[in-house]
Amino acid sequence: MKINRIMVVGAGQMGSGIAQVAAQAGVKVLLNDIKQEFVARGLNRIETNLAKDVAKGRKSSQEKDAILANISASLSLDDAAGCDVVIEAAMENLEIKREIFQKLDKICPAHTILATNTSSLPITELASVTKRPDKVIGMHFMNPVPVMKLVEIIRGLETTDEVYKRIEEMSIKFGKEPVEVNDAPGFVSNRVLMPMINEAVFCLYEGVGKPEAIDKVMKLGMNHPMGPLALADLIGLDTCLYIMEVLYEGFKDSKYRPCPLLRQYVKAGRLGAKSGRGFYTYN
Ligand code: CAA
Repeated sequence: MKINRIMVVGAGQMGSGIAQVAAQAGVKVLLNDIKQEFVARGLNRIETNLAKDVAKGRKSSQEKDAILANISASLSLDDAAGCDVVIEAAMENLEIKREIFQKLDKICPAHTILATNTSSLPITELASVTKRPDKVIGMHFMNPVPVMKLVEIIRGLETTDEVYKRIEEMSIKFGKEPVEVNDAPGFVSNRVLMPMINEAVFCLYEGVGKPEAIDKVMKLGMNHPMGPLALADLIGLDTCLYIMEVLYEGFKDSKYRPCPLLRQYVKAGRLGAKSGRGFYTYN
C-alpha cells in the first residue's frame, strides 16, 4: 500500500526533523503539536534548514517551496484520521505516549501504522494500549534528523513482517538507512551510547578531566565527530537522564546508575543547548 499522508506528533527538534525528511521525500505531512506556537517553531526550524540548502546551492528555491507546501500544521490528533502512518515524537514520557497511542488507535483507520520515535521506551508496552499491536513499531531517528543516516527500527512483540517492511521502505524513501533491532531497554543505540555519555559525566564529577579535555580525548582519540559532553548538550541532559533511568530500571544493573552530577544539572535546569547551558554555555 502506498503511503500518501503521514502525521508527525510533536513539532520539537526530532519531530520537525522527521517532518522535513518526509516532506523532502514528497510525502504529505501533518505536523502536529498541542500549541500553535510549538508548530510554528518547528516549521520555522525546517524553513531555516531549507534556506541554508538553497544558499549552499543544494536546492532551488522552487524545491524549497515545494517541500514546505508538503507540510501542514495540525493542532488536533483527530487529523490523523486521514493518515497512513503516524510517527509519534512527543516528549519521552511513557504516560504521555500511552495516552497519545490510545487516542490515535481510536481515531485512525484500521490500516494506519502507529510508529514511535521513542529513544528507549518499550514498544510492546505502547502497543498493548492499542487494539492494533501488530501495527505498532519503533522508528528511532537520530539527532539532527536531516543529517544523520540511521533509523533504528524496533519490532514490538506483535509487529508483523508486513508492517516492518513498509516502515523499512518508508525509511529508505526518506533517505535513511534502516537497521532492524528487537525491543529491549534503550534498543541498541542508547544502550551503547548513553553509558558512554554517563561515564564521561562521571569523569567530570570525579575530577578526572575538564569538559573540554574529556571531549577532546574522545574526538581526537576515537575520531568521534563531537565529544560525549557536547553530544549530551545536543541531545538534552533531561533526555540523557531519562534514558539512563530506563536502562537502570529495565536491567536492574548498577552499571547503568545515572551519575549524580547529571541528575543535579537536570534539577538545576541546565538541560544543554536548548536551555542555554549544560556542560557548556550557549547563546
Ligand atoms: N539540523 C540540520 N542540519 C544540521 C544541524 C541541524 N540541527 N546541525 C548541523 N547540521 C548540518 C550543518 O548545516 C552542516 O551541513 P553542511 O556541511 O551541508 O553545511 C553539517 O550538518 C555539518 O555541521 P557543522 O559543520 O556545523 O558541524 P559538524 O561537522 O561538527 O557536524 C554534527 C555537526 C552533524 C551534529 C556532527 O557533530 C555529528 O555527527 N555529531 C554527532 C551526532 C550524533 O551522535 N547524533 C546522535 C545523537 S543520539 C540520538 O539522537 C538518539 C537518542 O535517542 C538520544
